[in-house]
Amino acid sequence: MKGVILAGGLGTRLYPLTKVTNKHLLPIYNKPMIFYPIETLVKAGITDIMVVTGGPHCGHFMSILKNGHELGIKHLEYAYQENEGGIADALSLAKDFADGDSVAVILGDNTSDADISQAVKYFREGALIFLKEVPDPERFGIATFDPGDPSKIIKITEKPQNPDSKMAVTGVYIYDNQVFDFIDQINPSGRGELEITDVNNKYVEKGQLRWAELNGYWRDSGTFDTLLESNIYWAKKAS
Ligand code: G1P
Repeated sequence: MKGVILAGGLGTRLYPLTKVTNKHLLPIYNKPMIFYPIETLVKAGITDIMVVTGGPHCGHFMSILKNGHELGIKHLEYAYQENEGGIADALSLAKDFADGDSVAVILGDNTSDADISQAVKYFREGALIFLKEVPDPERFGIATFDPGDPSKIIKITEKPQNPDSKMAVTGVYIYDNQVFDFIDQINPSGRGELEITDVNNKYVEKGQLRWAELNGYWRDSGTFDTLLESNIYWAKKAS
């Protein structure tokens, strides 16, 4: 299995911090944000990794990650995303890199101490997404479960105004190679982006979406408050 970290975007919610570097290179305690998802992949045995980035500061990734060896990566590639086409658009750039293989994808602003190594080891086909209960479901992709079978997701809604549950889709996903066909089949959303939620719903339609709860700490860090929370969590954990 290959690993993909999505680290594009302008990070406008973190202006002015992101005027000088990419959001995913801002510090979370003693490391740049992107080190955390990379460590999650490497701990799960995934050492063949692509970082998809873009925007005015994309060169900064090479300065800090170099060839990735210091972080345990064996093979590191970079892809450049033109414009802000969304998460699924960014993932589409990893098609040749995946080369028919399945991919573990983590959003570059997600930090977690969950261990996904068993999920990676036993993954065969379809999609496996990781959920976490949140107090503010309006901010996330939210799962709707089959009332007759709560282990089954019947749809995912991106940032719902009236959420059906509090189970958020985290930015940790495992996909088989069909993901690249599904990305080709979706259309831009109201915010003009190819949404990963639409890709996940393609797997739902095919009856091939499974989910697991992400055990452990998990946050995205795309706002000042979540960035601060993540810093506090990781600083305490390190002490
Ligand atoms: C993205 C996804 C959303 C997911 C979230 C997790 O949202 O679109 O489904 O719940 O990441 O961090 P964004 O933060 O890009 O708006």
